[in-house]
Amino acid sequence: MDIKLENKELIELAYKAREFSYSPYSNFKVGAALLTEEGKVFLGTNIENSSYGACICAERTAAVKAISEGYTKFLKIAIVSDRNKITFPCGICRQFLCEFNDDLEIILDDNGDAKVYKLSDLLKYSFKKEDLFERREFEL
Ligand code: THU
Repeated sequence: MDIKLENKELIELAYKAREFSYSPYSNFKVGAALLTEEGKVFLGTNIENSSYGACICAERTAAVKAISEGYTKFLKIAIVSDRNKITFPCGICRQFLCEFNDDLEIILDDNGDAKVYKLSDLLKYSFKKEDLFERREFEL
């Protein structure tokens, strides 16, 4: 996949991902398309469960697919829902994604009208791996 993939194309892929939403409880369908530095795109959708706490959001589905295949350098993520407005990523997804890139570009589309945000603007003062240790200069 071309690294210069247009936001528009990434948004289209997010709409495709939304088609597979398993959301019989909320009836709220979400799709996400995550672009990595290597130019790979991972799609995700929300997957619900009768044990509600086990539900997973579209964004984390995409991220987990990427990470589990060795792709952790996230560049952009497009997110769409089936409501006629943009859908912001939930708090858990913001925290989950910022582990990999604080500057991740978040593209939120509503029927062709897209807004772009930076993850660190959506999640200020995030909890970081450095916070787990006393020495802040550690390296993984
Ligand atoms: N959902 C997402 O997939 N992403 C978000 O950022 C917000 C919420 C899903 C979870 C659940 O399946 C449904 O939307 C309603 O909360």
